[in-house]
Amino acid sequence: MSLEELMWVEKYRPKELREVVNQQDVIERIRPLIEKPTEMPHLLFAGPPGTGKTTVALILAKTLLGPVWRDYTLELNASDERGIKIVRERIKTFAGYVDRSVNIPFRLIILDEADEMTHDAQTALRRIMEESSKHTRFILICNYSSQIIEPLQSRCAIFRFRRLEKEEVLQHLSEICKKEGVEFEEGSLELLYEITEGDLRHTINLLQSAVTGGVITKESVKKQAGTMGIENVRKMVDYAIKGKFNEARKILVELLNINGVSETEIIKMTSEVLMRDDRVDHGKAAEIIAEYDYRLAMGAHPEIQLTALLSEIEDFLK
Ligand SMILES: Nc1ncnc2c1ncn2[C@@H]1O[C@H](COP(=O)(O)OP(=O)(O)OP(=O)(O)O)[C@@H](O)[C@H]1O
Ligand SMILES: [Mg+2]
Repeated sequence: MSLEELMWVEKYRPKELREVVNQQDVIERIRPLIEKPTEMPHLLFAGPPGTGKTTVALILAKTLLGPVWRDYTLELNASDERGIKIVRERIKTFAGYVDRSVNIPFRLIILDEADEMTHDAQTALRRIMEESSKHTRFILICNYSSQIIEPLQSRCAIFRFRRLEKEEVLQHLSEICKKEGVEFEEGSLELLYEITEGDLRHTINLLQSAVTGGVITKESVKKQAGTMGIENVRKMVDYAIKGKFNEARKILVELLNINGVSETEIIKMTSEVLMRDDRVDHGKAAEIIAEYDYRLAMGAHPEIQLTALLSEIEDFLK
């Protein structure tokens, strides 16, 4: 069985616009683009994680470019190879091809996590977009459009993806359960939604991992959400290292209050993550974590202590 069939997030990734959950505003504005591809502008998709941005971009690519879509689509993750080099080299090479042998309207460049690009890279991208716009269209994808420089924003039609609503997510989850022959306890799907807050990738992953013996219970959902903690801790630490304190703190509060992970679990996982991170001075990190661990053991307030720890993580960098 391929990974696509094994993982429900991929197995149930919508292949057509009508299968996309929520996002009616976006879908209504996308449809006309498909009918008149030559008039399609560059696009900017903005919105929270797991709400369908990449999914819709891929549907567009397949619909506009047909069976050869892979050959005419360049998918890049701007944050993988951050900076200006990738913008200049890979995009330029790809955008530079002029190829009219197949009846396609343009080449498509899907640039994920565009908000992670440096200011310089975005400026370079702006020029490349202008130079290549005769044969190329861009779909820029980001979480926050405010992180995209104004001249890029103004060259794109902006589509805002929203957090998915409860009713529609529950409907979607129960359909997946039906297709998979999985029973669910009353209230368990609601709980899934509450834990994952409209991030459907997270919801479906949690759903799949919470199945035990063909059944999903509230208990299994809670248990699974707890063990997913390490992933969230990794995210939390990463934000803290990058100085994004508010984002880091948000994850901490969720772990403590929604996922019900204990403070000792959190500090243990934080330590594990930090000790595996090459950016970090491990000696320094160990010393300070030990101090917080001691305070927690002495009964200090967990949320206050862990928040203070987060604020220090930035200083652990080598
Ligand atoms: N609106 C949606 N309708 C149906 N399924 C969705 C929707 N949004 C997300 N999903 C599910 O979640 C998975 C991930 O979605 P997708 O890759 O489109 O998220 P994204 O918005 O690009 O998130 P990120 O910002 O993290 O990249 C899909 O494979 C699909 O199973
Ligand atoms: Mg995506």
